[in-house]
Order: sequence, then C-alpha cells, then structure tokens
Amino acid sequence: IVGTEEHEREAIDELIATLPISKGLVRPVHRLYQNFWCPITVLANVITFQRHFKAKDKDIVLISHPKSGTTWLKALVFSIVNRSHLDISNTPLLTSNPHEVVPFIEYKPLPDLDGLAEPRLLATHIPYLSLPESIKRSDCQIIYICRNPLDTVVSSWHFLVETAQLMDEPVWSLEEHFENCCQGEIFFGPFWEHMLGYWKESLERPSKVLFLKYEDLKEDIGGQLKKLAEFVGLPFTEEEEEGGVIEEIAKMCSLKTLKDLEVNRSGKLPGRNFEKRSFFRKGEVGDWANHLTPAMADQLNSIMQEKITPFGLEF
Ligand code: A3P
Repeated sequence: IVGTEEHEREAIDELIATLPISKGLVRPVHRLYQNFWCPITVLANVITFQRHFKAKDKDIVLISHPKSGTTWLKALVFSIVNRSHLDISNTPLLTSNPHEVVPFIEYKPLPDLDGLAEPRLLATHIPYLSLPESIKRSDCQIIYICRNPLDTVVSSWHFLVETAQLMDEPVWSLEEHFENCCQGEIFFGPFWEHMLGYWKESLERPSKVLFLKYEDLKEDIGGQLKKLAEFVGLPFTEEEEEGGVIEEIAKMCSLKTLKDLEVNRSGKLPGRNFEKRSFFRKGEVGDWANHLTPAMADQLNSIMQEKITPFGLEF
C-alpha cells in the first residue's frame, strides 16, 4: 500500500507541474487547478482528498473562502453539535484553537478522519465544483459562510502580511493584493466563483447546503445560531432557550472570548505556518473603509455587480 501511495503521489506531482502558475504574489504561490487558484502547499492534498475521501451521511462540512469567518463558524457549529455532552465550562474550545477542534481536510496529506466522533465536523476551502463526489452525493450537510469581499480583501491582506513577516519573507502592498483579488488570483479564488458555487447549490438544495453571511452573524447571532441548530437537526429546546444556552454559546464563541484565551494568544497551529492569534483581528463589518480608497471600493463593487448580483447574492 505504501508503494501505491508513493506511486500515486509521484503521478500527482507530475500533474501539478503542468498546471499554470500564478503571477504577482510573493507567497503563497498558486496553481490553477480545475479553474481555481489552489495554494501549491495543499494542492497534492486536495487531489488526494478528491480521489479518496468517503463522506458519511452524518458528516457536516464547514466551507468558506478564507477570511470569511471560518474560525467563528467552526467554534459555533462545534458548540451546537456537542452541547448535549459537553458543558460550555468544559469545552475543548477553552484549551484548543477552533482549527484544532474542527480540522481542515486539505492541510494534511492523508488525515485520519475515521477516528473522529460522529457526526464528523470537517472543514475545507475547496470550491463546490471540486469537492469530492461523495460529499455531493451523500446525505452529508454543507454549511458555507460568506462575507463581503471588501472586508475579506482587507482581512486577507492583514493575515498574509502577518504570516509573511513571521517567515521573514517580503511583504506586498495592499494595492498589489487588491489587484490580485480583483483578477481572481487569490487562494481558492476567484472569490465570485467560490461564493456562487455554494450560493446556487443552497438555492437548489436548501436541506443540503446552508448559506450564511458573516454580516448576519454579527447582526443577530442568536437568530443565526437557531438557524444553524435547526439545519443540523438539533434545534434548541424551549428549556435550552429559557436557560440561556444560546447566549452562552454566542459568548463562548465571540471574538473577544476566543481572542483573549491563552491558547489563542501565542504559538502556531500544528503543522501550519500560521500564528493562532492571526485568526483573530478586529471582526468588524465595514473595516474596508479604513483601508481601501473610494476608487478601490468602486472597482470591487463593480466586479460584484457584474459577477454576483445577477444571481441574487448581495451584501
Ligand atoms: P478581520 O480580519 O476583519 O478582523 P477566517 O476565520 O475565515 O480566517 O476569518 C478571519 C476573520 O474573522 C478576521 O476578520 C477575524 O478577526 C474574524 N473572526 C475570527 N474569529 C471571530 C469570532 N469569533 N467572531 C467574529 N469574527 C471573528
């Protein structure tokens, strides 16, 4: 079996070497695979995942374009799904980063997912069209979180700059990063394709794909928690609502609580070059106005008008 794996890995590497490479970014470098820009660091894993992953009907897959609220979503869904047996005062979120509690599938070559408790909570940034067939065909559920691209551009720039500095690599300007985003040359981009893939699927199969917006979570976390709990078939009971369980989860998963926890204040994520604290910044809707010029905002807004609005998706 080891031989087969090695053989397959070599074939995957050969395939990868033929794919177009992104220009412009200092780091990370991307290749165009199945019409999305995939970071080279995870591309082989993505292909292995596509070929070998077997979804279980009870799986819940959390999906996002990076910097759209993935960390928050992981904490919220983990808390909802495990609330019957994990008291909030004892939750693993107090001692582990949400990305350790709900793993990304593409960040390890062959992650051992069989040992995870059911329902398995998994995460990925892969666009809909490139998901393994078994995720699309099985009864597993997808929860997608989306965020206004004006804010994700700013959020991803901060994140990439922080990561580059940490690795002593050159840093690029917000203008360069912005241009790359507008060209679609951003991790797992173009962002419009990413959003629309899940948006369309959520309209066609609402019990399969739940489409959430970061902005809605910020505005009404209680309402969105109820929606999430109902979607995964674990609605809050009257006793739970009266007992303040929703508020407890919202508070535990808030930016302030998570950011201040010792576990999230220092250290890298295991096996990744990301500082845990980099996942928690300001968490504000509209922070773009502090960084983008009106001309940049116009440019991005007209891309959204052209690519996203016609499909009924608006921010
Ligand atoms: P900002 O950079 O705008 O502050 P992701 O989790 O997909 O990497 O997205 C990171 C963004 O979500 C960052 O946005 C971060 O501050 C924000 N975020 C992280 N945890 C959050 C939480 N618990 N509540 C609200 N926002 C959160």
